[in-house]
Amino acid sequence: MTAVMTANTQTNKRPVILTGDRPTGPLHLGHYIGSLKTRVQLQDTHEQYLLLADTQAMTDNAHDPDKVRRNVLEVALDYLAVGIDPSKTTITVQSYLPALAELTLMYLNFVTVSRLERNPTIKEEIQARGFGRDIPAGFMCYPAAQAADITAFKADIVPVGEDQAPLIEQTNEIARRINHQVGRDVLKECQALIPKFGRLPGVDGKAKMSKSQGNAIALGASPEQIKAAVHSMYTDPDHLKVSDPGKVEGNMVFTYLDAFDPNTEEVEELKAHYRRGGLGDMVLKRRVESVLNELLGPIRERREQLAKDPDYVFDLLREGTNRARAITQQTLDEVREALGMFSFGSR
Ligand code: TRP
Repeated sequence: MTAVMTANTQTNKRPVILTGDRPTGPLHLGHYIGSLKTRVQLQDTHEQYLLLADTQAMTDNAHDPDKVRRNVLEVALDYLAVGIDPSKTTITVQSYLPALAELTLMYLNFVTVSRLERNPTIKEEIQARGFGRDIPAGFMCYPAAQAADITAFKADIVPVGEDQAPLIEQTNEIARRINHQVGRDVLKECQALIPKFGRLPGVDGKAKMSKSQGNAIALGASPEQIKAAVHSMYTDPDHLKVSDPGKVEGNMVFTYLDAFDPNTEEVEELKAHYRRGGLGDMVLKRRVESVLNELLGPIRERREQLAKDPDYVFDLLREGTNRARAITQQTLDEVREALGMFSFGSR
C-alpha cells in the first residue's frame, strides 16, 4: 500500500483554478502542449482542481458508458504521469459530485434555449458529431453544467482551449444573472486562460490533433508508435529531392520542432537550411522522433509504473472527490440561500 498524500485546501488563499477533461480517450501531445504543461506549472502557485468530467462525457457517449468509465483511470494516469502532483492538485470525479448536478438544474432556469442554441462551441460540436436533429438534450445543456463546475469551485481562472471560450463567456453570463437577481455576488466570475501556442495540428497536418482522426500521438505511446507517427508526418509535398528548396510553413516536422525542441537556435538553422535546399526530410524526422522520445520516455515510464497500482490512483481520486464534495455542496447551499429557496423551517 502506498501512502496517499493530497492537497491541503485550508492553508492557501491562492487563486483557484478549475479545469477538466472529458474522459473519452487517453490524452495526447496536443493536450500536453496546450494545457497539461501549464497545469503542472500552475499547481505551485494556485489552488488547482482537475475535474474528470465523466458526466459531461456521457452527454455525447451515452451509448458507450464503458468507454467513459475506463478512461477515467486512463486520464488520471496521464495527469500523474506528466507531473500533476496530488499533494498540490486535487483530482476529482464529476459524477460523484451531486451538488454539480443540482446546480446545473438550477442554472438551466437562468439560460434560455435560444441562448444555448447560439453557443458557437455547441454549434460546432453538433456539426462535428453529425447529430442532425437528434441532439441529446443533455448535450445541448452541457454549457449550464460546465457553468456549475466552474462556479461550484469558485474558480478564478479556467485554463481551456480556444474552442471553449464561449463556454466561459456563458458561465459568466449565468453568474451575472444570478448575482443581479439576488443583489450580491453569490457566484464568482472567472477568466479563461487560453494557451499561447494555440492548437497542435495532427501529424497529418490537419487542424487538430485528435484521437478520433487517427493523427494523434498519445502520451503513453511506445517508441514504435512514435516512430510510425513521425515517419508518416505531413511535410512539404513539393520537396521531392533533398537538394530542392523546401517549405517550412505548414510543414509538420517544423511545427513539432517549434513546439517540442528545446534547442530553438538549431531549429532556426535547420529551417534556413531546408529553405535553401540540401536538407532531407528523413534527417528532420529522426530529430523529431528523438525529441519526442526524450519528452515522452519518462512520462511513459511513470505511466506504466502507476498503472500497476490502480488502487493507489483510485484512493487519490476518492480523496480528491471527497474534498471537492464539501466545496461544491457549500456553493450549492449558498446559492439556495441567496435565491431564497425552501429550507425546512422557512415559510
Ligand atoms: N468541456 C471540457 C472539454 O471538453 C471539459 C470540462 C468539463 C471543463 N467541465 C469543465 C473544462 C470545467 C473547464 C472547466 O475538454
